[in-house]
Amino acid sequence: MHIHRAEKIWLIFAVAMMAVFLAVITVGALFDGLVPPSRIETIDPTKVSQTPPFDKPGLHQVARGVYEAYYVAHVFAFDPAAITVPAGSRVTFYVTSADVMHGFSIPETGVNVAVEPGWVSSVAHTFAKAGTYLLICNEYCGSGHQLMAAKVVVQ
Ligand code: CUA
Repeated sequence: MHIHRAEKIWLIFAVAMMAVFLAVITVGALFDGLVPPSRIETIDPTKVSQTPPFDKPGLHQVARGVYEAYYVAHVFAFDPAAITVPAGSRVTFYVTSADVMHGFSIPETGVNVAVEPGWVSSVAHTFAKAGTYLLICNEYCGSGHQLMAAKVVVQ
């Protein structure tokens, strides 16, 4: 098979680029602590149900209009299944997985993080408008993935 010289040069260039990208990711992962961007801390994924505060998932009021919500994602549900906050509340979500990788997304709010076993993901949002917000898993996690949802009720 004849390969044109210019084509050879580009082939070598493309393969070299891939090698460089792979090297950058590998070095980042091994030596530079490359981790999920929204992660704040680690957790033993086999002991989520015994690890505070995830042993009692739910909503906690920190101050007036300021809340923290602790969620455990597992196949195929979120715990808690529903929380209720007053309109104008700022809610910081802390989410971890008890099994596989999940997503944590509230469409049209900017809340959208990956939930990886072993990590606690965090994201905050101020719910200015009243309504019922759907919280969904947007990372394919198995046969019941499409059923994995919860509610945030803003009154
Ligand atoms: Cu959990 Cu998809």
